[in-house]
Amino acid sequence: MAKTINLAVIGYGFMGKAHTNAYLQAQHFFKHDHKINLKVICGRNEENAKAFAETWGYDDVETDWRKVIERDDIDAVDICTPNNSHREIALACAKAGKMILCEKPLALDGTEGEEMVAAVEASGVPNLVWYNYRFLPAVTHAKNIVAAGELGQVFHYRSNFLQDWTISEDLPQGGAALWRLDAKTAGSGVTGDLLAHCIDLARWINGDIVSVSAMTETFIKERVHQETGEKTAVTIDDACAFICRFENGSTSIFESTRYARGHKALFTFEINGRDKSLAWDLHDLNRLDYFDHGVPSDRRGWSNIHCSDGDHPYAGNFWVPGLCLGYEHSFVGAVHEFLSHLDDPSAEKRFADFKDALGTQYVCDAVLESAKTKQWVDVKRV
Ligand SMILES: NC(=O)c1ccc[n+]([C@@H]2O[C@H](COP(=O)([O-])OP(=O)(O)OC[C@H]3O[C@@H](n4cnc5c(N)ncnc54)[C@H](O)[C@@H]3O)[C@@H](O)[C@H]2O)c1
Repeated sequence: MAKTINLAVIGYGFMGKAHTNAYLQAQHFFKHDHKINLKVICGRNEENAKAFAETWGYDDVETDWRKVIERDDIDAVDICTPNNSHREIALACAKAGKMILCEKPLALDGTEGEEMVAAVEASGVPNLVWYNYRFLPAVTHAKNIVAAGELGQVFHYRSNFLQDWTISEDLPQGGAALWRLDAKTAGSGVTGDLLAHCIDLARWINGDIVSVSAMTETFIKERVHQETGEKTAVTIDDACAFICRFENGSTSIFESTRYARGHKALFTFEINGRDKSLAWDLHDLNRLDYFDHGVPSDRRGWSNIHCSDGDHPYAGNFWVPGLCLGYEHSFVGAVHEFLSHLDDPSAEKRFADFKDALGTQYVCDAVLESAKTKQWVDVKRV
């Protein structure tokens, strides 16, 4: 019989919903020796938390996350709150011996992240950070093709994450809806919010990043703060671009902005090897673009693999060949990988744990430092 994990989710916003859906779906589409029970949803507004519990099937509601951690009937805690709360909640969970699934970025900076890694290592609790894009079939397929050495020597990696939702000067900063624009809560702007995803995939697919040279820009210098009503300086990076070197000798360029008019969430990566190239973008997330230099030159060209067949990663667990998966399946895959690792801790860990996510945090820190000092910065290694 499957072992039940009683789970508490803290925060019922965007990610609270995406994760809850994933816990339910992972258990419908994959088989595990561990089973998640949606025990507690925690949010500060009791009425909203109760409504969420009713919609999604949680047994119980709490309004203070500390109470959640005091409960003996909770085995695992999922942290779906803004970035400045990750550290405190995770440290308390580790101390109480609860498994932790924490949203990205791991922390506000590497110093906080180191404390969190030390805490989970000391307590030995299983831990995951939600770098969920890894688990889209086309992305995992790319990872597997590169890991098999099919590209030959890798020369280049490039990645973008482009949005356009903060262009208006009238948009305030801070508060419940716009905490991403307030560096005190978010830690940084696009670097921790968007580039962190690009960096995680890059490190997973192409290995460690060793040095970076970056620039950032804040286009709108002052915005009204939601909490005070005062116009105050904007301290996040609205845009960030950096070049970097990987440990395998490849060079790279990354860009992220919330000012690319026309782009809602254009997350892309491309990797160029001696023998093959691969490219992917979130707007067409089931497809992996593939170029094979081994094909005779009169037939050679980019092809487009629809990663929906039974032999593509994860796809066979869902529908029949040709039918699409969506954004939500990236979270389903993360839950599946976490449960698989609980089932068999000796199996390869496909998800980012705290230590792995600290590596990404170090790259973000180096990027921000380089932008500030206008110098190349060596990335601290985990
Ligand atoms: N993996 C991804 O692709 C992805 C996407 C979006 C957000 N995120 C990350 O997820 C986290 C949450 O982002 P979101 O978009 O869901 O934000 P959100 O604003 O939609 O939701 C945050 C929730 O946390 C609650 N909250 C805040 N402080 C709390 C506290 N002390 N106790 C209980 N609840 C509290 C808020 O009320 C809200 O319900 C952030 O760290 C963010 O970076 C990750």
